[in-house]
Amino acid sequence: MNIAVVGSGYVGLVAGACFAELGHNVILVDNDERKLAALKKGECPIHEKFLPELLQRHRGKRLAFTDDLHDAVRRSQAIFIAVGTPPKEDGDADLSYVESVARGIATAIDDYKVVVEKSTVPVYTNSWIRKIMLLNGAPAELFDVASNPEFLREGTAVADFLYPDRIVIGADADRCAAVLEQAYKPLVDGSYYDKRDIIPGPLAGPFKARLIRTSAKSAELIKHASNAFLAMKISFVNAVACVCEAVGADVEQVCEGIGSDSRIGRRFLYPGVGYGGSCFPKDLLAFRSVARENGYQFGLLDETVKVNEEQRNRFLRKIRKALWTLKGKKLGVLGLAFKNGTDDIRESPAISIMKTLLKEGCSITAYDPAAMERAAEELPPDAIKFANDPYEAIQGADACLILTEWEDFAALDVAQMKKALRYPIVIDGRNLFKPSVMAAAGMNYYSVGRPDVVGERRSVPRTTELKTELSEPGNKVA
Ligand code: UGA
Repeated sequence: MNIAVVGSGYVGLVAGACFAELGHNVILVDNDERKLAALKKGECPIHEKFLPELLQRHRGKRLAFTDDLHDAVRRSQAIFIAVGTPPKEDGDADLSYVESVARGIATAIDDYKVVVEKSTVPVYTNSWIRKIMLLNGAPAELFDVASNPEFLREGTAVADFLYPDRIVIGADADRCAAVLEQAYKPLVDGSYYDKRDIIPGPLAGPFKARLIRTSAKSAELIKHASNAFLAMKISFVNAVACVCEAVGADVEQVCEGIGSDSRIGRRFLYPGVGYGGSCFPKDLLAFRSVARENGYQFGLLDETVKVNEEQRNRFLRKIRKALWTLKGKKLGVLGLAFKNGTDDIRESPAISIMKTLLKEGCSITAYDPAAMERAAEELPPDAIKFANDPYEAIQGADACLILTEWEDFAALDVAQMKKALRYPIVIDGRNLFKPSVMAAAGMNYYSVGRPDVVGERRSVPRTTELKTELSEPGNKVA
């Protein structure tokens, strides 16, 4: 098939590269000249596993880059809109980029095309795109608009695309659904997985993707409701963690207990400093706003957002509890990205916590395996120092703060951490270590929803013993 993808951000770039991987001819359209030039040169603008390989594999063959929307539309059967939908002041999604692309597509249409919403948009956007296209001269019989939400997680987006839990096709007309079914056929009939040199999947064994056909409106709601539910699950577990702290229970044990109920599940039940990123915070506000406009006050979403905001303040209180006063304290921060596996710092709890700590007069040296460049752009110039590795970041610090759930941090040598720190204090916002390991190492250890380890003075176990304990299940955030 010939496919156009408009917008080469996280979603567009991943979708475009993956459609090329499935054997389609893809034209990626963007109006950012710098980004296009970089992509044409073979650069990969985001940190995303397997994406550089896919761009390298298909660039100049099945994957082209252009700023010419008109030409891309003419050449394609399906046009995926994957432009930004940032939040406005009131929480509504700003759909002006979507509207402008819809106008551009309308003026180029010369044959039957399927226009696909790929960006996360509120319900009814589908109807609006249709209206705008008709107003701009697109003949009604020459196009349909479908909703095909993405469920990609940053850091694992390529594997999520190629090995999805489900593919949702929201189309009100059969001929429109047929075009999208064709686009995803290699994943649904399993033929992609029989090929050689494919991107490896998360699970061993044969795989076939499940396709769910819905109305366009239902598909739009599936996306918002999925993200809202996941965010609610995180806020729920963060609230449970607060109760655990108050009564002296251990949230890990509680989650093991509740998560092993197959109706609840263990995933997304990891407490921490709250969720961040470009999706959950924005989508929750937009979903709440859509519900309100349609006469429903979605109070559950208000509470989800409130718990999430409070979680950062609770972590700051933990730091104060561990260090007493903050002015003049030297902190080693591990983690800047909003989660592991990405260089994205949008709505990162780590950045917001650091900004407060800087205001309170702390000095910070930070390390992140991927997000230091982006953090340097976001923070005031020279506000913090960046280190070359985690041990350097905490060298001579009054305390170590863990703010992102990178696997590398969970594998750190606790004895070496203790040696590097000025005081043996670790405040872990992601529960990467077992309190027993920290206690045995003589650390003061504060985590989320688990009893504090304070004032232990036992001798430091040998590194090999610590490594064995660290490799036990339950020591890392999944
Ligand atoms: C999220 C959804 O998981 C994707 O399905 C969706 O496609 C995407 O938004 C989107 O709408 O584009 P993403 O934002 O990449 O994906 O990241 P998640 O893995 O969902 O993590 C979000 C935040 O929740 C992170 O800050 C993470 O640290 C936090 N989190 C996650 C927890 O605090 N606890 C958990 O148990 C899981």
